[in-house]
Amino acid sequence: MTNNDLSSTNLAAAFPPSFIWGTATAAYQVEGATREDGRGTSIWDTYAATPGNVSHGDTGDIADDHYHRYKEDVELIAHLGVDAYRFSIAWPRILPQGRGSINAAGLDFYERLVDALLAKNIKPFATLYHWDLPQALQDEGGWAARETAYAFADYAEIVAKRLGDRIAGWITHNEPWVVSYLGNAEGVMAPGIKNLQTAVDVAHHLLLSHGLAVPRLRAHIAPGTQVGITLNLTPVYPEDERPETLRDTALADSFNNRWFVEPLFRTSYPEQLFANLGVNPPPIQADDLTTISTPIDFLGVNNYFRSIVRGQEQQPLAHAYKTVQPVPGACYTETGWEVSPKGIRDLLVRLHHDYHVPSLYVTENGAAFKDEWHGEEVLSDPRRVAFLQEYIYAVGEAIQQGAPVHGYFVWSLMDNFEWSQGYSKRFGIVYIDYPTQKRIIKESGQWYAGLLKAHHTGRRAE
Ligand code: FCB
Repeated sequence: MTNNDLSSTNLAAAFPPSFIWGTATAAYQVEGATREDGRGTSIWDTYAATPGNVSHGDTGDIADDHYHRYKEDVELIAHLGVDAYRFSIAWPRILPQGRGSINAAGLDFYERLVDALLAKNIKPFATLYHWDLPQALQDEGGWAARETAYAFADYAEIVAKRLGDRIAGWITHNEPWVVSYLGNAEGVMAPGIKNLQTAVDVAHHLLLSHGLAVPRLRAHIAPGTQVGITLNLTPVYPEDERPETLRDTALADSFNNRWFVEPLFRTSYPEQLFANLGVNPPPIQADDLTTISTPIDFLGVNNYFRSIVRGQEQQPLAHAYKTVQPVPGACYTETGWEVSPKGIRDLLVRLHHDYHVPSLYVTENGAAFKDEWHGEEVLSDPRRVAFLQEYIYAVGEAIQQGAPVHGYFVWSLMDNFEWSQGYSKRFGIVYIDYPTQKRIIKESGQWYAGLLKAHHTGRRAE
């Protein structure tokens, strides 16, 4: 492709006919209905209800009311013309206490959703854990307790038994780095713990639970359906060539990326990682790393921005994600993330070269910008259109450089509860007018639909 052009000819050249275009959400961010139909309490209910944790005291109690409006939302998804929809399953809807008795109404809800998607020919991609641990399990130690990993594998199997014949792609975990580090070391996400040792132990049990769940899923799913995990990965670049900058860049890379990629694809944690973090290694038992590195069908990649490191500015590692240096002249989104599409290209190519990942999906990419709706039929959001155009173009470049990328999901289908930032940050390609719950398509949504249509037309012409 040339000139950053996504015309239909170039599209066909970069993206194979089988490429899957999708959009994504997560249960706690959109569903609402947190106390309905037997759902148990999750750590996000608890965290959001604690004053001071979430902007404006927002909670996911109502969110996008998707639990009640899923039919309308499936119509919307179909209207966009996507091939696939990534959503997450709320563990506390299925097992209100985390283990033990199954709440049939929870399974029924996801079955209705999945069947509605299939009726529109949309492939369901289900994430089993997008951060909403049943509070009952947190009360027993949460992910810091090894037993939670076994409970997760049981939960995964329960869902697979019911939906395994219909889900196209299974994602065990979403962004275990965020769960571990931001949730348990920084405390800016649920469960709000501030202990680096806990974060490192949590990370190990999350990875272990993934490895334990993979064969439990495979026992019940249709042939040809795929199982993977989604990591948030951040390409890290040195700001200068000084030795301390190069050293800290490497440290930041092991903290941001290799911490999770290497146990999955190399059967080991990066050397020195725990020593550099100043903590003990997690409680690794015999065979854990073999379990964690059980072969998977794909790696899901969530990427929004890159990181520029300047040596010696601050302590590396534990603070590495804060070392992002401002880039003069760059554009930033509402969440303060640099628009840096080359980052996603380099990242995807690197995963192919260094780790020989079997297949890649971009399971999240998108941008928050300030959107204001004044009653128009289509809301104008040119910066989000430009963002998506540039990042999708960069994904196309990665494919041309050999990265086995098989799909791309925009975050997000619609504005939603953006964790500790509440409803103040809008990532949707569809706008939500929260007081009325009206859905208003944004120009970016129209643009994406047009792109997909062009690709699908090219597909048919081949
Ligand atoms: C990711 C999360 C997703 C959303 C986006 C903006 O870290 O997986 O739920 O909040 O960021």
